[in-house]
Amino acid sequence: MASPDLLIVGSGLFGLTVAERAAVEHGAKVVIIDRRDHIGGNAYSEVDETTGIEIHKYGAHLFHTSNERVWEYVNRFTEFTGYVHKVYTNHKGVVYPLPINLGTINQFFGASYSPDEARALIAEQAGELAGTDPENLDEKGISLIGRPLYEAFIKNYTGKQWQTDPKDLPAGIISRLPVRYTYDNRYFNDTHEGLPAQGYTAWLERMADHPNIEVRLGTDYFDTRQEYHRDAVRGQLPVIYTGPVDRYFDYELGDLKWRTIDLETEHLESTGDFQGTSVMNYADADIPFTRIIEPRHFHPERDYPADRTVIQREYSRFAAREDEPYYPVNSGTDRETLMAYREMADAEPGTLFGGRLGTYKYLDMHMAIGSALSLVDNKLADLLRQ
Ligand code: FAD
Ligand code: NA
Repeated sequence: MASPDLLIVGSGLFGLTVAERAAVEHGAKVVIIDRRDHIGGNAYSEVDETTGIEIHKYGAHLFHTSNERVWEYVNRFTEFTGYVHKVYTNHKGVVYPLPINLGTINQFFGASYSPDEARALIAEQAGELAGTDPENLDEKGISLIGRPLYEAFIKNYTGKQWQTDPKDLPAGIISRLPVRYTYDNRYFNDTHEGLPAQGYTAWLERMADHPNIEVRLGTDYFDTRQEYHRDAVRGQLPVIYTGPVDRYFDYELGDLKWRTIDLETEHLESTGDFQGTSVMNYADADIPFTRIIEPRHFHPERDYPADRTVIQREYSRFAAREDEPYYPVNSGTDRETLMAYREMADAEPGTLFGGRLGTYKYLDMHMAIGSALSLVDNKLADLLRQ
């Protein structure tokens, strides 16, 4: 594109939202670059060749929001199905509903407690450590929901997520453990929920489908041969940067720590339905993966083959530099490092940092979109004038 007005680094939902608004609302010419060979960041999905099943390439993505502005905005690009997310967990070979609810409690204790009875029981069990300050995750968990439920459903699952024995994990990594005293096991509490009817990629591509927007894939911002590199680093081309903030500054102040996941994908020809639901957690320490995803269940309305299916075992671990950064670890050290990077980012001429990686924050999709819309409201006009 001849002399763009704005360069956006990263074609995830944050970058796409800013690009779409810059083009439509400001008439700006926008180039989006992404180092991956596809658009859409981590929300990207692809259709499995042998089964036609839509697979979320970077892990299960469920859309949900209570933000009316975001809901109206996303509906400009896609319709949503009526999918309602539910999660189950396998503990010692028995399957229970999550989040912990009256159904989980009654199944676990082999009882028929009323809501009041269950509330009283959990309060009594949570009183085990009354009057002490929780010193680690185990003590925190017990003080929130009592030892039996904590040890069955939270302890080892969280330990696997962090590859760390929960008695060595800080109490602060959980602040609350919701227990529902009804049989409602709907996973999200938001007003709106669903999956993009024609798939994530159709939605994401639609956002970039504008004559003023050009997408260049396989293009790394830090590749000095990249066409816009010189102008951008000289501050002559306004930039929205949604890559990792520590990478931007060459890790000068150290690495911000992330967790990542590995997905082991398997095609099954022995059955058309492996587990009867989209997400099954595995709560116990002796199973190395945290959960199994069966993507066909995200779209029960589709005509998928009845005799074959795809499953993905998900493993959680700490990320090295070359891994995909997924969940901020957010230790005390990370927060200090982040503050220092943030000061440098604020001082960077002609460049605004945004999105999950640019701000080192776990953002759900609706949060990434909402925060991009605020950037457009508050900062884009000034940036484009520079
Ligand atoms: P990203 O999607 O990460 O996009 C950033 C883009 O920048 C990437 O495409 C990357 O390649 C590119 N980039 C980075 N550095 C460079 C560079 N140097 N040059 C060029 N390009 C670069 N949200 C939900 O609402 N519901 C869910 O169920 C859900 N599940 C999730 C599960 C997992 C495993 C993960 C990781 C996230 C999940 N999310 C979910 C969050 C969702 O993925 C994010 O909200 C969304 O990806 C944020 O968009 P973003 O644009 O900030 O970042
Ligand atoms: Na998810």
